This record gives sequence, structure tokens and C-alpha cells, in this order.
Amino acid sequence: MQDGSMSMDQSGPVTDWSTDAIVERREAFYAASQRAFVPYKTPLIFRKGVGQYLWDETGAKYIDLLGMNVCISVGHAHPRVNAAARAQADELPHCTTMFFHPVPAHFCEELAATMPTGHDWVVHLTNSGAEAVDLALLMARSHTRNTDVIALQTGYHGATFGAQSVTGISGFRHNVVQLPGVAFAPEPNQYRGQFGAGVQPYLDALDTTIHRETCGALAGMIIEPVQGYGGIVPMPQGYIKGAAERVRAAGGLLIIDEVQSGFGRTGDAFWAFEDHDVVPDIVVMAKGIGNGYPLGAVVVKRAIAEAMDGKFLFHTYGANPMSCAAGRAVLDVMKEEKLQDNARDVGGELLQRLRKLQQKHDIIGDVRGKGLMLAIELVKDRATREPATDETARVFDETRAQGLVVSKSGPHRSVLRLVPPLCLSMADLDQVEAGFDAALAKA
Ligand SMILES: Cc1ncc(COP(=O)(O)O)c(C=O)c1O
Repeated sequence: MQDGSMSMDQSGPVTDWSTDAIVERREAFYAASQRAFVPYKTPLIFRKGVGQYLWDETGAKYIDLLGMNVCISVGHAHPRVNAAARAQADELPHCTTMFFHPVPAHFCEELAATMPTGHDWVVHLTNSGAEAVDLALLMARSHTRNTDVIALQTGYHGATFGAQSVTGISGFRHNVVQLPGVAFAPEPNQYRGQFGAGVQPYLDALDTTIHRETCGALAGMIIEPVQGYGGIVPMPQGYIKGAAERVRAAGGLLIIDEVQSGFGRTGDAFWAFEDHDVVPDIVVMAKGIGNGYPLGAVVVKRAIAEAMDGKFLFHTYGANPMSCAAGRAVLDVMKEEKLQDNARDVGGELLQRLRKLQQKHDIIGDVRGKGLMLAIELVKDRATREPATDETARVFDETRAQGLVVSKSGPHRSVLRLVPPLCLSMADLDQVEAGFDAALAKA
């Protein structure tokens, strides 16, 4: 380190940490395709993270309620995870999947062990969630020999062509012909879904989608048990089970996307689908399983994966041993530090405190979620539930001034999404509550 703004390791190139230079360099060299993914008018630059805390380049400290978009599960820079990755990097940073290596194989065994017992689970590792979604769709289509897939409106599944085709939010769909063979059903959003609260109307609408918008023979349906970018929309009890019955009756498979909701985040279960009395056929996971190291996976019943036997399909870094070593350590830390229990307890307390704020601030229309996957939805009027998009932007900007990192989500950008590292503690909640209280007052 030369001074506060320049750093150079002995052998590497110089990094300029001065704020203006970072902004200028990014504007000069980042493609326009990345411009919309910037939440604040004044850029936020992070330099350091430990546990549930982040520090910007000026040294200001924040409580991280976003976890780098749900990637940080056990805490920033967890020493055990970093040590595992570092040890593997020192020995062999990469080993292509065509050669055998024990670390990814152990990791696959350990991931399979997190699934419901009594089924024969196998694993295909990928680099990212979207790749895992693409693969899940391919597996479902290969196994069933059907094409049509159902997805939910306001679902998000990733940016690749396949994942984008099952994403039901216009802001994430680009102005190109999307892949065919996808029909959308209304999401059973209990606060602002088109049929209001209840499950049966949404299952009836799914029947209609199957009968009117598909050929009647399905490859599958993809569901997030708690929609993430859709604005933290938990599937109501009975919906996933009812949907699975209908989809299976049409020859299709149940694909569950746990990229945001999984890995102990919802507190009561390791995988959010476990609360819904269903066993999926395919489970897609990424983000928190690597705690910041790039890692995704499809966990699938063996008989389904067998349909792809004999065809080449690989992801170059899919079974990268360094990421897998990190993934194994993350699984250990989750258990040792009882982070699923922590998500349940701290998340439960935070939910109560947010409900208290709802009584004080009329702009809060709904507070919802489970464990450490929570949302505050802002409305202009509690009776009409008109989304308070501009007000949400103001509150969001103010949360930063209060030392909180959150995100705006939902199709109207009117939901504050809270998905912190699972090590958020009870001691952090006073600052979180006071920060939201002050920010909401500026709505
Ligand atoms: C629910 C869900 N599925 C899939 C993806 C795609 O994952 P990735 O961005 O790693 O490709 C995301 C990413 O945000 C997601 O939230």
C-alpha cells in the first residue's frame, strides 16, 4: 500500500482507489449493458468486508443487509472459507472436469446429502445460477421429451437466453425474440397478486395457462419458493404442492430455484421448498453456496439426469476445486455457527421490529418474508396499494446515509429487500431499526 488511494502488491499492477478515478475508469471501460445495474446516483465503492459489515473507500462502515445480492451467506471474508480456497489455490487452482479431483466430488456428495432422504440425488456443478437454470431446463426437456415450460410472472431466473426466457419481469427481458416454449402463470402474491390473497385462484389460473398456452404436455415448471427480485414474494402454503400435481399430471417436472431462498436463509429449513411438503425433481442453487466464490449447481434425481448420458455438456469452471473447497467450508461453517438457527431467530426479531415500524409509517403497505429474507413494500395509499416508486427511491438513498446497505426490488421498484449475511446479529438490530425509522421519515 502506498497511500490511502493507491495499492500495489509486490508483484501486481497498481490499483487506484481514489473515488474519481474509479468512477471515470468504470464509465470509460464498462459496456453500457452494465449501466442500469447501479442503484445509487453517487456510486458506492466498497473496499473491505468482515462478517455482516462493509467499509467503503473512505472508511465509513455499513451493516450489509444485501449480502452482495445474496451471495454472502456465512459472512464477508470468512477466515475458514478463505483459508480453504487459499489452500486449494496454492496446490492447484483449477482442474478441468474431464480429470478426476476429490474436492468437487466431496462437495457433490455433501450437497446431495442436504436433499430430502429416500431419493437418489446427483449433482452437476456450474459457474453461476443462470447456467444452472439453463441446464435444469435442458435436463427437464431431455428427460420428458417435452418442450413447454411454465414459469411465474415476476419470477427472476438469470440473464442468459434460457434463464431470461423464464424470467417474467420486463426490466430483465431484452428487446430480442425470447426462446419459445415458455408460458407464464400469475404469481400467487398474497399482497398484490391479481386474485388477491388465497391459493386456489392461482392454481386455477395455472390450469388455464396449461390448457390455453401450452400443448398440454409439459417439460416442467420453474418456481422460486420465495421470489427474490420479484420483491420477496413467498409462495403461500399449498401453491407449490398444487402446482407440482398439475405439472406432473401433464408429464412435467418440478424445478425449484433456490438461488436466493436456499441455504438456510429462510430459517426453518435448509432449502425453502422443504416447508411446502413437496420433493422437487430438480433443484437449482448458486450465490450463497460459494459465499462469494463463483459456484452454481443443479441437484437432480438420478433418473432424470440419465437422459443426458452420452452428450457432451460441461462448464469450464464448473467443478473448479478452489470454489468447491470454499463451498465445502461454507457448508461446515453453516453447521458449526448454527447460521440457519440464527437466520430464524434474528430474522424473526427483525420482522417484528419492521412490523412495529409499519404501525408508525403509513407508507409501509406490507412487511413480509421469513428468516433473513424480508421485505418492506411501500405504497402511496394503503387502501389502493399504489406502488410508491419515487418514495422508495428516496428512502433507499437515505438508508445509505444511515449506514445500511439494502436494495430496491419488485416490478415497481417499490420493495426494500433485506437479504443480509446469515450472521447478522441481534446486536445489529437497533441500528437497523433506527436506520429504517429515520429513512422512512424522509419518504
Ligand atoms: C432466483 C435466481 N435464480 C437465478 C439467478 C441467476 O444467477 P446468476 O446471476 O448467478 O447467474 C438469480 C440471480 O440473481 C436469482 O436471483
